[in-house]
Amino acid sequence: MSRASPHIYIRITMNLSTINRLLKRYPTKWIAFAVFLWLILLFKYCGFFTYFFTRDYFSEFTYPLEGDIPKCVSQLRSGQNPDIKPLTTANYSFIRFNKTKCLDSSMTKKKKINLLILVKSALHHRGNRGAIRRSWGQETAIANVEIRILFLLGISASHNDHKFDDLITNEHEKYGDILQSDFVDAYFNNTIKTMQGIRWVIENCDNAEFILFSDDDMYVSIKNLLKFIRNPFYYPKEIEDSSKLNVVPKALYAGSVFLVSPVRTQFSKWYISVDEYPFSHYPPFVNAGSFVLSYEALVQLFYGSMFTKYFRFDDVFLGLIAKKMKIDPIHSDYFYNWKKAYSKIGYKDIIAVHGYDNPISLTRIWNEQDNKRNKLHFEVFNFQEYLCTKED
Ligand SMILES: *[C@@H]1O[C@H](CO)[C@@H](O)[C@H](O)[C@H]1NC(C)=O
Ligand SMILES: *[C@@H]1O[C@H](CO)[C@@H](O)[C@H](O)[C@H]1NC(C)=O
Ligand SMILES: *[C@@H]1O[C@H](CO)[C@@H](O)[C@H](O)[C@H]1NC(C)=O
Repeated sequence: MSRASPHIYIRITMNLSTINRLLKRYPTKWIAFAVFLWLILLFKYCGFFTYFFTRDYFSEFTYPLEGDIPKCVSQLRSGQNPDIKPLTTANYSFIRFNKTKCLDSSMTKKKKINLLILVKSALHHRGNRGAIRRSWGQETAIANVEIRILFLLGISASHNDHKFDDLITNEHEKYGDILQSDFVDAYFNNTIKTMQGIRWVIENCDNAEFILFSDDDMYVSIKNLLKFIRNPFYYPKEIEDSSKLNVVPKALYAGSVFLVSPVRTQFSKWYISVDEYPFSHYPPFVNAGSFVLSYEALVQLFYGSMFTKYFRFDDVFLGLIAKKMKIDPIHSDYFYNWKKAYSKIGYKDIIAVHGYDNPISLTRIWNEQDNKRNKLHFEVFNFQEYLCTKED
């Protein structure tokens, strides 16, 4: 969910003679009353009055379902009946997928996948997918790191739209990297898209160590992302001595963290009514443009979602679950949810930037940033070593 501050332009196009005419016809008090009513309505649409009805996030926050959710999640994970009955979550079937995506090159057994990339794409963004395949989505870009990529898609809203069906079939046969589910592909179904991706990882790719979620209009430096994962609190400082590396939380949920208020202006794409969400702020959440999860965080978010009322913004939804599961999102300034102007040096440490829907500039920048590597400089690439063993 990217945001732009709402601008409201109100043009009053009444010329003086019209005003004179109106004044002669109606007494001033009626005109004043009309103006007053009009202002009230305007204020209402701009959400000024919701101020009186919102509740303070910091002192009063609760969100259904209520109760000890981490306990219920560990009960579910260990095969017991949870104290609270889980919600019936939508479970869309997978239409196009690659069963062998997370196997090793012999296609027979599972091997540790260091990074699984899940790109939330739209059906008609074929060009974006191509550019990502040619640049940061290359599975073999770094010789000593196992990378896999999948593009998450839904289906077309119109039943007789076979054009997309054929195109996607074709693309999937060629690249084997489409993960398409049986729900209508629409921007406001991104929560479904994200949750389908998460469920697929649990059912088919439990050998993934870290999972990157990204929009299909991002520039990502996988090289920098891997350095960040190894050292999320001090990135981009290089720490050579591995004993001095700070430990990575077992449930890593990181990217560009927002702590913002819901938009109450009814003109906005992001409008949320007080009935839908009554609090002054959302819980801290990682912007959906690109964020990284450890496998443990992904599993906790998946089971936590069964105890969390659906929310249509995918990043807020994950933030709500994380809050229930007591996972603290980790912020890094090197994830940009807006398009930072390009310079070779200015992009050196950048992990992700939003706004690259031009395949040519994306591949040019990716090449110039020297992203293709034989090896990362840390020879032994073993994340498990750095993961916290304690729950805290
Ligand atoms: C979703 O449906 C599949 C197939 O019907 C089933 O195997 C799986 O357990 C379901 N998952 C959840 C979370 O309900
Ligand atoms: C499935 O994914 C793997 C790993 O990316 C790839 O090697 C294989 O070719 C894909 N399978 C198909 C049928 O495309
Ligand atoms: C989201 O997907 C569901 C299931 O396919 C569909 O009924 C719904 O209309 C979609 N939502 C939007 C906003 O298109």
